[in-house]
Amino acid sequence: MNNIVFITGASRGIGLAIANLFNKNGYDVIGSARNHFEFNPVKKDSLMLPVQLDITDRESISKFIKDLKEKDLIPNIIINNAGITSDQLFMRMSDDSWDSVINTNLTGVFNISKAFMKNLIKARSGRIINISSVSGLMGNPGQVNYSSAKAALGGFTKSLAKEVGSRNITVNSIAPGFIDTDMTSDFTDDAIDTIIKDIPLQKFGHVDDIASLALFLASDKASYITGQTISVDGGLFMY
Ligand SMILES: NC(=O)c1ccc[n+]([C@@H]2O[C@H](COP(=O)([O-])OP(=O)(O)OC[C@H]3O[C@@H](n4cnc5c(N)ncnc54)[C@H](OP(=O)(O)O)[C@@H]3O)[C@@H](O)[C@H]2O)c1
Repeated sequence: MNNIVFITGASRGIGLAIANLFNKNGYDVIGSARNHFEFNPVKKDSLMLPVQLDITDRESISKFIKDLKEKDLIPNIIINNAGITSDQLFMRMSDDSWDSVINTNLTGVFNISKAFMKNLIKARSGRIINISSVSGLMGNPGQVNYSSAKAALGGFTKSLAKEVGSRNITVNSIAPGFIDTDMTSDFTDDAIDTIIKDIPLQKFGHVDDIASLALFLASDKASYITGQTISVDGGLFMY
């Protein structure tokens, strides 16, 4: 395995933590976001390449893949992390809020996975890791759009895992609970207190809690795990 990882939404939050952890562990890392950003690699002898790429823009994705092929940079690990929220109670949810959340959190995962799949199949090995959410497992008021997209990732993960298992490609999802990032930064103290009451471990998670599971799922140690959605949520949702 050449161990090149491609991570969407790698400019901050969970995606950046995943990028940094993979860099520390000697992987070559390519990370994307819509806005310009820089990486600050710890391991300077490994590749750490930031790219501006919108996962909803199929034309740009095709150009990006072509460019990677020309540079002989073919990732064998794809981490679909980029995501957005646009919370509104259902009765007030705009069409735009529905469309943008589905397009990014679900169709974006399709766009990126599809774009790289031919290469993974050719290599007869690979990993796809989707970052889902506890909201897709248990629902959350104000997040009909987001929890629909994240719940759909469960079906995506299982069906694709069944299709590509014979090619030695695993497909799994991680379902974070509440993690301290920009996405959760506008919660009021009261909202945080209410949420924490329902979390057995009584705190928000750290981005590294998610990154360490992603690193494990990408490793040879996880080669017999596929089609799973694994929760990292302090016990908030128990199956
Ligand atoms: N934080 C939590 O509590 C939590 C809980 C459960 C699940 N999650 C999931 O974990 C993932 C990461 O969340 P986070 O909290 O780290 O979010 P975040 O801090 O808001 O970061 C989101 C990242 O995604 C990028 N992004 C957004 N839309 C994109 C697009 N269309 N194309 C490419 N990149 C895009 C953003 O960069 P640009 O804005 O520059 O594009 C940024 O790098 C998401 O899938 C989220 O749903 C988070």
